[in-house]
Amino acid sequence: MDRLNEIRQPLEREFGEYEAFMQRALYSDNEFVAGIMDYIVSSRGKGIRPLLVFLCAGIHAKYGIGKRAYLAALMVEMLHNASLVHDDVVDGSDTRHGKPTVHSRWDARVSVLSGDYILARSYVLGMQSAQFDIVSYITAGISELVEGELIQSELNSSRRMSRESYLEVIFKKTAILMGVSCGAGAMASGAAATGVGLARQIGLDLGMAFQIKDDILDYAPAEQTGKSSCADLREGKITLPLIAILERCDDRERARIVEKVKAAGDDPERIAEIASFVRSEGGMEAAQKVMEEYLDRARSIIVTYPESAYRRSLELLCDYIGDRKR
Ligand code: FPP
Ligand code: MG
Repeated sequence: MDRLNEIRQPLEREFGEYEAFMQRALYSDNEFVAGIMDYIVSSRGKGIRPLLVFLCAGIHAKYGIGKRAYLAALMVEMLHNASLVHDDVVDGSDTRHGKPTVHSRWDARVSVLSGDYILARSYVLGMQSAQFDIVSYITAGISELVEGELIQSELNSSRRMSRESYLEVIFKKTAILMGVSCGAGAMASGAAATGVGLARQIGLDLGMAFQIKDDILDYAPAEQTGKSSCADLREGKITLPLIAILERCDDRERARIVEKVKAAGDDPERIAEIASFVRSEGGMEAAQKVMEEYLDRARSIIVTYPESAYRRSLELLCDYIGDRKR
């Protein structure tokens, strides 16, 4: 069985119902808008965030997973998708999940407005549910997500990325929403503040690991990942595999490498040369090591929960995040 399916197995019923909720949440009676929403829904990713919501809801549930968990799962996945549709415009990415991005299939205008539409629908969903503890907990993460992107964009243009600033950026742009997913799942099942906090910490650590892995996979071939290869380097984005190497260099050498990244633009030969330098100098292994530390931190919290199918899935998810190839 596919590893993600194995992880989702204890939630088979929930995911069946969840799909129908998702279709309804993005319903439009306008054919054009409905077509774009169908495209986004059918080409979305692995659904890690709703999975985290349901698993953390499951771990804390006394009487089964309730409706509040569905609301949280939908909201985090909608926010995530809205952010990706915008992100692909910001990053100028042509493919995601092996398919053309919304802005390359339509255009940047459609992409930005579609992201806005999904965002607006998630607010409506939240407000109409009147589950204000969950809604305010989730929406509090949005500004941090956007802040992460803004800080990243400033650091990329000035090429001043250090390990510390890199970790701050990925904490905000990725870890927060995964932390919110876990915390909201626990909250949906009525966990007390300490339970919500612990679940959030699992998601934060998994989120850090997830983004580091994403940045490692950026160096992998496009056929493997479904995204274009070395997109980060082509955008001048300096991520952990390269940062780990820069840290070992003296000031002159560091300036020379950063200048090379700047000058490479999206010239395929120059990009391939930098990527092969990062690989041969052990940048991937160094980043992988940091990623493993975050996964171990998540595992050390997960083992404190009583044994259950949900706990087992969270453990498997840690392994999956570390080993995934796309
Ligand atoms: C992927 O990072 C992008 C994010 C995790 C967040 C993007 C957030 C925004 C664009 C702000 C807008 C937010 C909302 C809620 C509308 P990446 O580019 O490193 O990864 P990738 O390789 O998957 O593109
Ligand atoms: Mg991107």
